[in-house]
Amino acid sequence: MIRTTNFNAGPAALPLEVLQKAQNEFLDFKGAGMSVMELSHRSKEYDAVHQHAKALLKELMEIPDDYEILFLQGGASLQFSMIPMNFLSKEKTAYFAMTGAWSEKALAEAKLFGNTSIIASSEADTYNHIPDVSNIPADGVYLHLTSNNTIFGTQWREFPDSPIPVVADMSSDILSRKIDVSKFDIIYAGAQKNLGPSGVTVVIIKKEWLTKENEQVPKILKYSTHAKANSLYNTPPTFAIYMLSLVLEWLKEKGGLDAIEKRNSEKARILYSAIDESNGFYRGHAKSDSRSNMNVTFTLKNDELTKSFIEQAKEEKMSGLGGHRSVGGCRASIYNAVSIEDCEKLAAFMKKFREAH
Ligand SMILES: Cc1ncc(COP(=O)(O)O)c(C=O)c1O
Repeated sequence: MIRTTNFNAGPAALPLEVLQKAQNEFLDFKGAGMSVMELSHRSKEYDAVHQHAKALLKELMEIPDDYEILFLQGGASLQFSMIPMNFLSKEKTAYFAMTGAWSEKALAEAKLFGNTSIIASSEADTYNHIPDVSNIPADGVYLHLTSNNTIFGTQWREFPDSPIPVVADMSSDILSRKIDVSKFDIIYAGAQKNLGPSGVTVVIIKKEWLTKENEQVPKILKYSTHAKANSLYNTPPTFAIYMLSLVLEWLKEKGGLDAIEKRNSEKARILYSAIDESNGFYRGHAKSDSRSNMNVTFTLKNDELTKSFIEQAKEEKMSGLGGHRSVGGCRASIYNAVSIEDCEKLAAFMKKFREAH
């Protein structure tokens, strides 16, 4: 079998070694005589997987002891609601840095629960850059930002020094680089880009927030419920958490975040060079200083050329290159599991296609 080079935005490529390990263990998990997905979530075998995933995430991201790591469901989208539902009210204001469609969704949900205010936005420029956020008001309950903008292909290079707690949607760049977790009070991410398959959502939350939740929130939507139960309040997505543990093992074997960050920068460099050296044949959507190392967005002269680019790439076993409808053009998502060789293959194809057209 020839595997397709996968540039999907999410669900996205998973490391081949991880898929193979899961395949090997699929029918008989460590001598249990059953698949990991048939194990009780209360069993000692599953508990070991659960704890291992948590411990590895803490180790790799250097998460301080005053943070709780939660494995939830509902995707990053549920976090758009769950955070303001628990921590915002009509007497409080949450500030937002608007950098794309996902920030808009987070803002829309927060408006249902309390006051919101936009402190920076690049909407007028089709979200082609990360706006300046040097003036963060000190009276907010939190500032919400999206660390990587999957659709527009922009990424925060540095995070602001904020007088108020920062809440970050890191769905599309968690574990792609080293970050200082202590600069954030809440980090959340759907798994299906850098963490594993869809189904589990990682939430890293400073413990002090667990005592500040609004009262009228259903039990299952309170962070404290899941923290007290070690994310086993109800049946967790056991298979997704097992896959997460394998992805984290893989990342550790690859040298952790320092090594993956270097590899990701090199991958992005290869593709942005292919854009910059094309004499305008390919035009990058993001401004240079805001370019994402995870989602490389670019356009071609017209829809016909874009269509043929995507079709011909498919013939060469490269898929997932269509851009999101709000930006058009193309997007190569190059999450952790995409290799340098995969990016070189795409860059060579971009050159060949340009020369032919
Ligand atoms: C940055 C970002 N936030 C949120 C989401 C929504 O995530 P989910 O589908 O897990 O709810 C996505 C999905 O692509 C995303 O890229």
